[in-house]
Amino acid sequence: MTDRRQFLSMACLGTLPLASCRTASPPGVAAEGQRVDASMVRRLIVERHDALLGHCLYVADLGARQVARPILLARRGEMFDAEIVNRLPQPTTVHFHGLVVPEAQDGAGFEVIAPGASKAVRFRVHNRAGLYWFHSHAQGLTAEQVHAGLAGLFVVADEDDSALDAALALEPINRLALAVADARVIGEQVLPYAPTREDCLTGWLGNRVRVNGVLNAAFDVASGWVRIQLLNACNARALLLALRDGDQAVPFHLLGTDGGLLAAPIDIDRVFIHPAERVDLAINVAGHRLISAISQPFDPRVQTQAAMPDMRHPVRDRYPPLAAVEVCKPDTGGATSVRLPDGAPLPLFWLRVGALAGRGRPRIPDRLSSLAEPASVPGSPVRRVRLDFADDKGFLIDGAPYRIDEIAFRVERGAREVWEIKNSPISMPHPMHLHGPGFRVLRRQGTFGPARALATATQGRLPTDLGIKDTVAVWPNETVWIAPDFSLPQDPGFAGAQRYLFHCHNLEHEDGMMMRNFAIL
Ligand code: C2O
Ligand code: CU
Ligand code: CU
Repeated sequence: MTDRRQFLSMACLGTLPLASCRTASPPGVAAEGQRVDASMVRRLIVERHDALLGHCLYVADLGARQVARPILLARRGEMFDAEIVNRLPQPTTVHFHGLVVPEAQDGAGFEVIAPGASKAVRFRVHNRAGLYWFHSHAQGLTAEQVHAGLAGLFVVADEDDSALDAALALEPINRLALAVADARVIGEQVLPYAPTREDCLTGWLGNRVRVNGVLNAAFDVASGWVRIQLLNACNARALLLALRDGDQAVPFHLLGTDGGLLAAPIDIDRVFIHPAERVDLAINVAGHRLISAISQPFDPRVQTQAAMPDMRHPVRDRYPPLAAVEVCKPDTGGATSVRLPDGAPLPLFWLRVGALAGRGRPRIPDRLSSLAEPASVPGSPVRRVRLDFADDKGFLIDGAPYRIDEIAFRVERGAREVWEIKNSPISMPHPMHLHGPGFRVLRRQGTFGPARALATATQGRLPTDLGIKDTVAVWPNETVWIAPDFSLPQDPGFAGAQRYLFHCHNLEHEDGMMMRNFAIL
């Protein structure tokens, strides 16, 4: 039964020209996985299409047609102006992860869209070209809604980005935007989100991976360069991405990170991608027939104590779960038998290489963008952030659980600060995310083995630390120094103080209150 459906959705994941997707969809049925100009979206509809399993999706209403699970495309400087329509039985929001938008458009959960209600969202895309994403951020329900399918890709282009594609002579089918997320799957059935107390403490882990919503995803590409922008959309699982042809490693190049292109490409053969992080990669597939992308095994360094605090968010008592299940109760089913531990090897997707499209043998440009090394400003105030664990409350930032009405600290617009984020030794890796401004990584210390082996850049940094970031993983016992960019765009939308979030992007930790508010004045 899945074969035809799977084929159709695979055909429409941006790997075939849009025309073939359109003809593949019977009239009246929303096409899936198509690329859509963000500026054409009139309504973004949030709906649940399966009340038993709780599966949900975004539908972009373009007026003339509707596209389910859209990949949104925008050029830097363009507007997004749409109404978000909530058809869920729960409140929701749409957060534009990585895009610098005013608090009122950020969807951070200060105000939710009630079931049946809608909200107009309008902002200009100020960010550099890169892979961003949009996802549900209704506090306490984020993990469940994102896992249910409420996460989509938002691809921003600009001149550097187009110049790179031209230099690589990139075939349209050789440019992919992929969201990789794990799920608990039995047979070909994706099970509902039903975390146990333990899952709520360390994070929801699946046993299989879906790429843009599809199990066993395979992409047809032409021989030559392939460019892949990849998001780790897992609730909690870190990926150590590597490429294989049979048992041979296929090396590749890191082009960019969360916030767009690096100054220069870096040759690598594996890369850590923690939840919410993105990488932009170039792979020369010439001479290969089939390449598999895998997550290599690694020691995930999960060293939590035995305590199993009650991390059920209070909002859970007011709304039913999306599926017919219990959430964060001591002994809910949750199919823990199929949970694969963090760090376990996992196949991700395949590239099937076709004939050479034949336009010479272009080389990767030496320079990709004008991104400078982060300027260290001597004497910048240092803000100390501690990630820790309390027996009764779980993982915390600076010893205190999140409070929606509290502003943990305020910074002046344009201020230069260094944040020193230190994780406790008895902990696990936390992918720490900042709303609003992006940041640069200045330095790492105490990095744990598997990541340390990849720290080839100065100041103990990883190649992925050299770009603009909005999410950075901090391993147990590690300290990471970052420099956020608190200058907000010159845009009337940013008038007045802007409240943003700083949180762990392990979504169970986020819902478990590992989050703080701060304000840019
Ligand atoms: Cu991707 Cu506050 O989130
Ligand atoms: Cu975000
Ligand atoms: Cu965490």
